[in-house]
Amino acid sequence: MANVKAKRNVYLVMVILTFIVYQVTLYQYQNVIPTFTRNISPANFLSAYNTISVTPHPFVVAARLKERRDRMRKECGEVDHPKTIAKALARILYAPSHDMFVCASPKAGSSTWIHHLNNMAGFNPPNGNLHTKYWISNVRARKVLGMKEAESRLTSSVNVMIARHPFARFVSAFRDKFADGRRLDKPQSHGHYSLFWKPALRSLNRNISGPLQINFTEFTTFAMKTRKQDPHWTPLTNMCSPCDISYEYILFLETFNEDINFLVNKLNITKINLEIRRNYKSNGTVPRPREGVGPYDDLLTLDPNLLQYYLQLPPHLMAQVIHYYALDLKLLGFQVPPVLTSFTTF
Ligand SMILES: *[C@@H]1O[C@H](CO)[C@@H](O)[C@H](O)[C@H]1NC(C)=O
Ligand SMILES: *[C@@H]1O[C@H](CO)[C@@H](O)[C@H](O)[C@H]1NC(C)=O
Ligand SMILES: *[C@@H]1O[C@H](CO)[C@@H](O)[C@H](O)[C@H]1NC(C)=O
Ligand SMILES: *[C@@H]1O[C@H](CO)[C@@H](O)[C@H](O)[C@H]1NC(C)=O
Repeated sequence: MANVKAKRNVYLVMVILTFIVYQVTLYQYQNVIPTFTRNISPANFLSAYNTISVTPHPFVVAARLKERRDRMRKECGEVDHPKTIAKALARILYAPSHDMFVCASPKAGSSTWIHHLNNMAGFNPPNGNLHTKYWISNVRARKVLGMKEAESRLTSSVNVMIARHPFARFVSAFRDKFADGRRLDKPQSHGHYSLFWKPALRSLNRNISGPLQINFTEFTTFAMKTRKQDPHWTPLTNMCSPCDISYEYILFLETFNEDINFLVNKLNITKINLEIRRNYKSNGTVPRPREGVGPYDDLLTLDPNLLQYYLQLPPHLMAQVIHYYALDLKLLGFQVPPVLTSFTTF
């Protein structure tokens, strides 16, 4: 009799355990796969997928960051890369509270990070323009630590690189610096004129006192021709030297909210305002692609809004752009949409 009862109890416990495991699994699954995917027809899936944003399970983000890190290490071993560590160190930012270096480049989140790191260092940054000596030197590694100390710490610190599809960044520079091709009556500022308009007009053999208007093809011609490496569109792999500096966290602007949330939790960064996303104006920059769960390969190709810029370029110019950003594409795993290469001859 006792034997039968014990057997029944074991059976009961097993049923309960199975039920618990099932519920836990279901819970985790629901975190990863959002509700909408369960009641949706395939035809509507893509539009829903592109508009609904959900928080993925941390495992998903962790796996994605590991993939980026692994790709970088592998590709760095295989390519001949320029030694740009000194250049990177001159611009890189530092947060003493977390012994964290951040390489954030113009048109790839640098303003946001100047704000974040000022916050973390206990300063009280305003909402305006932080691209002034004061706010930058508060957080620039070579100012905070000195060059020697910064270089020697780099091997034991937490290193973060902020990246973005190079073609998105390039268009963003055009929209920001050359008014997205609109004609301006006067330059945005004197500095703007001498840094951007004047060299561009000159390089295109245009009248430098004439109208301020250049289109994307002209901008691209200028950018590919000029010897000067402008930080707004110089390849990120030149700016951050990712083959010399080991970046544990490579955050993409394309998946930024998810990536930074993960980082902030992982490192227990409390003094950071995640609402801050500077320079993200619907007019000034290109709309970001949706952020979300699941296969994110689509984020690595180009947003349709951006494609239209490149479709204007003559094939030889397109080929130059691809060549110019070859390392960024390869090391970061961004892709060139096939439509842009189908007519391109190399
Ligand atoms: C350049 O533009 C200015 C202002 O529009 C004009 O006065 C000048 O004649 C132009 N120069 C040439 C060489 O076209
Ligand atoms: C860009 O400007 C150049 C020079 O004015 C012109 O020849 C070309 O057709 C323009 N390209 C586009 C796509 O508008
Ligand atoms: C996170 O940081 C806060 C404040 O800096 C601290 O009080 C807390 O103990 C930290 N938590 C962990 C898990 O380290
Ligand atoms: C963007 O710029 C256009 C004109 O260039 C203007 O009509 C529109 O109101 C602006 N939108 C925002 C959100 O500022």
